[in-house]
Amino acid sequence: MSNAAAVSSASPFLAACRGETPSRTPVWFMRQAGRSLPEYKEARKGTTMLEACSTPELVAEITMQPVRRYGVDAAIFFSDIVVPLAAIGVDVKIVPGVGPVVAEPFRTEADVKRLRNLDPCDVPYITEAIGLLVKELGDTPLIGFAGAPFTLASYLVEGGPSRDHAKTKALMKSQPDVWHGIASRLAAICGEFLRVQVEAGAQAVQLFDSWAGALSEADYREFVLPHSTAALAGVAHSVPRIHFGVGTGHLLEAMTETGAEVSGVDFRIPLDQAAKRLPDKVLQGNLDPALIFADDAALVAETDKVLEAAKGAKGHIFNLGHGVLPDSDPAKLKLVVDRVHEATAR
Ligand code: CP3
Repeated sequence: MSNAAAVSSASPFLAACRGETPSRTPVWFMRQAGRSLPEYKEARKGTTMLEACSTPELVAEITMQPVRRYGVDAAIFFSDIVVPLAAIGVDVKIVPGVGPVVAEPFRTEADVKRLRNLDPCDVPYITEAIGLLVKELGDTPLIGFAGAPFTLASYLVEGGPSRDHAKTKALMKSQPDVWHGIASRLAAICGEFLRVQVEAGAQAVQLFDSWAGALSEADYREFVLPHSTAALAGVAHSVPRIHFGVGTGHLLEAMTETGAEVSGVDFRIPLDQAAKRLPDKVLQGNLDPALIFADDAALVAETDKVLEAAKGAKGHIFNLGHGVLPDSDPAKLKLVVDRVHEATAR
């Protein structure tokens, strides 16, 4: 047996992704790297977010921190959805407490041409960081990720974070050619960004379409689904693909049409309902991240509720229903990991 096969069969996370029965329910947390850990805040002192993302030793260290502290079943690569955009020369900054801000928003035919393809040579630090991580992680798989075309486009078109995505939606309807031009170029960039990570050793990927829930199903299907499908096609038949959005209860079925093997479910849809609607999909989720602030007894009871609701699913990867909130207590996240492992050991 090759080394790679030996590692994957030992991993509850990869077994669950493939719809096999893992030795226990695997658990990891979206946004586990960064944010709440004191050792993260220490490591990040004096560097901007994008500088940190292009420093391989620092990326490897921050990616490892939650694995060491929590004993999670997968690592998520420390980077950001805007890293490939910065790498092709888009003037984007990550403003602390705000998010990605784009100096010159993308709204016209001429702007489409500002999005050139990503070349692996644009992101040598990604390949290098993953090389360091694969050695250090041993049996724990690494999840690579990208932002989906709609979520990335919303930052590019709005110029920064937005509550209603008004300019993005208006662009779709008023200038559909410009929209599809931007989204298809973003799909190529995301697909390549995922491919670079897999080539370097990532053993699964997650496509974050965090803001897709803002769209109706009809608009999702017409303006977004083809582009997310194209982005995920870049790594089809190589590693398991997880697809996640927030407030996407009305889009669960449509989102599976991208071909992703695992459906991320946010905390608004109980997993037993999601399992009935998606009987052929492995589900990932979905403890409300706010419940990390509940007392221990309530937190354990809510963790058990998620495990119980997932029993009818084809497979289950325990996660939060969105990312770790910035002020979360690491001890509470550790309590959840231990509870999931203890309650599901086979
Ligand atoms: O554990 C991990 O998931 C770490 C890797 C990661 C980051 N961002 C690091 C980061 C991942 C997977 C992301 C994804 C991401 N980035 C998404 C999709 C996931 C989601 O939560 O919906 C989105 C929408 C972004 C865009 C973005 N980047 C936002 C909204 C922010 C937060 C701004 C803030 O300060 O509140 C960022 C910055 C960012 N990305 C931070 C981290 C750790 C915080 C920056 C810092 O610590 O200085």
